[in-house]
Amino acid sequence: MKVLFSTTNKHKIAEANETGKIYGIEFEQINFPYPETRDEKFENIACEGVRYVYEKVNKQVIVEDSGIIIDALNGFPGTFSAYAQKKLGNKGILNLMRDVEERNRTGKYISVVAFFDGKILKTFVGTVDGKISTRERGSSGFGYDPIFIPLGYAQTFGENPEPKKEISHRRKSVEAFCKFYVKYNEGVK
Ligand code: IMP
Repeated sequence: MKVLFSTTNKHKIAEANETGKIYGIEFEQINFPYPETRDEKFENIACEGVRYVYEKVNKQVIVEDSGIIIDALNGFPGTFSAYAQKKLGNKGILNLMRDVEERNRTGKYISVVAFFDGKILKTFVGTVDGKISTRERGSSGFGYDPIFIPLGYAQTFGENPEPKKEISHRRKSVEAFCKFYVKYNEGVK
């Protein structure tokens, strides 16, 4: 089964396909950047995005909106994660957190997949808890991975991206979507 996934981020496609293959689903990248409204809710952005892309392609499609929530920064950058990564980078984020003690460096990644077929609009959420490291470590993955240490691990996702396949926010949201889609597709046949 092929599912169109509108994103400019090839890492998202690669990670989604790691999960998709377990369910016999192949995500095919299409590139229709949607205007991201200023909203603090990932779900709202993903829903608006998927409706926008559906209007363009007129086929069932998914988008994914994701980001990082840092407790010591009152949830920042949240839905502004891509913008903050571009403007501040990991060094800038670490600088904002330079006085934050180890025990308060908690945060989480969140991923929301939104599916729309012209009638049914559904969202699937995944999160992974972790800590923000004190320096950049490793260069695997993308975005905040070099400063994100998932709970229960010692290394950042940048040092060791392997656990992303099993425990990441995207693994969970995409897996929830895949479970839905397998049933949805049986109903359509
Ligand atoms: P968007 O979903 O395209 O708005 O962008 C989400 C942003 O959040 C990305 O550009 C990254 O900076 C960050 N992000 C989301 N998921 C991950 C991840 O798995 N690793 C590292 N950074 C991520």
